[in-house]
Amino acid sequence: HGTSQVNDQGHLQIGGCDTSDLAEQFGTPLYIVDEALVRQRCREFVNAFSASGLKFQVAYASKAFCVLAMCRIAEEEGMSLDVVSDGELYTAIEAGFPVERIHFHGNNKSIQEMEMAIDAKIGCFVVDNFIELHMLNAVAAEKNQKVKILLRITPGVEAHTHEFISTGQTDSKFGFDLGNGAAFRAIDEASKLANLEILGIHSHIGSNIFEVEGFKMAVEKMIGFATQVRSELNVTFKVVNLGGGFGIRYVEGDTPLPVAEYVKAITEGIIDFFGKHDYPIPEIWVEPGRSIVGDAGTTLYTLGTSKDIPGVRKYVAVDGGMTDNPRFALYGSRYEAVLANRAGEATEELVSVAGKCCESGDMLIKDIELPKVNQGDLLAISCTGAYNYAMASNYNRIRKPAVVFVKDGQADLVVKRESFDNIIGNDVIPARMQKQA
Ligand code: LLP
Repeated sequence: HGTSQVNDQGHLQIGGCDTSDLAEQFGTPLYIVDEALVRQRCREFVNAFSASGLKFQVAYASKAFCVLAMCRIAEEEGMSLDVVSDGELYTAIEAGFPVERIHFHGNNKSIQEMEMAIDAKIGCFVVDNFIELHMLNAVAAEKNQKVKILLRITPGVEAHTHEFISTGQTDSKFGFDLGNGAAFRAIDEASKLANLEILGIHSHIGSNIFEVEGFKMAVEKMIGFATQVRSELNVTFKVVNLGGGFGIRYVEGDTPLPVAEYVKAITEGIIDFFGKHDYPIPEIWVEPGRSIVGDAGTTLYTLGTSKDIPGVRKYVAVDGGMTDNPRFALYGSRYEAVLANRAGEATEELVSVAGKCCESGDMLIKDIELPKVNQGDLLAISCTGAYNYAMASNYNRIRKPAVVFVKDGQADLVVKRESFDNIIGNDVIPARMQKQA
């Protein structure tokens, strides 16, 4: 997919760059991002919304992969940005991202985060709960500002990849519940707070969703709520944000829909409803994360040791693991891989890919067919662009890998490999433990 292909030397090539060369130049493990594919995914969202004729914002959910260069791409592609912490906000600001297109999420924002975001003049806050509603109003009042908000609604639709369920009330730490009246009360309260301006409502029904039904159901519930609020509270929403969650293909058998199909399901529902009702059509916002960067990422590893347990399993170990990709350990996520330096060769043995951490659960792939592997071979695991670097850790004091963007045969470093100095950089030895000279 994307610009990946096998070149004349039988090497995996991405963005016109030979992965063997990348390994030599930047070392492994290495996160490789196919820049053209990221941009293509951004455009698929923007174009599909443009085609609908609706007003919209596509906010890249930066939690999936938030670094300065990625913020630049999001800006260049006309996206907005969803941040959930002071760290993501700081990254966006430092990248020079247009502040009015930044939306601040999260279920426990601190006063400092609110102040930082208000001072930066971000576009809006997505308010999650009653305590935050009043906290934000107080912080805004202190600064003599009127702050724009969306209220996060828990619509009672939960989607998991290809199943979705509609529940009366939802057991979730996020949002104002629609079913028990909390959402209605939240709008009522917010409308009376002098330093907040209600822009609209937000919902996010899940992640890596393969079907449109959940989104359609969320649209219905959200507009149903909007009309109720308009008639009973005289509050009209300018924005309805339907969150992220659009699925991608990790392994054969995964059946996500093309981006345009998800967008169509949402926009058609909106157009259909507002065509029949006397209500100014709101802007539609979405927040894709995984579907923007997920399949554009590949992690390149060098194979090291292996252990063959006859009749049981052959483990091959890579020079990374759960520190650069904790998703197998956390969620049992599945991935596909190829030997990048022998990408054209037929598969010959079934192996499992282990990491190098001191932990049995440190696995990346259980059971994958590869050519007969050798120490020193390069293994490329695909679809690691989302929630990999973003969730990387320094467990075992392993240094986080570098990230490169590849495009048209050019590779640009966007995150340096961590150094040993980075590893001990924040450590402090108390004076009483210093060694005497
Ligand atoms: N908006 C909100 C409010 C969210 O909570 C999320 C993801 C998104 C947007 C973006 O969703 P996406 O389009 O990426 O599915 N670490 C997990 C994924 C956690 C997603 C959390 N929220 C993983 O590695 O699968």
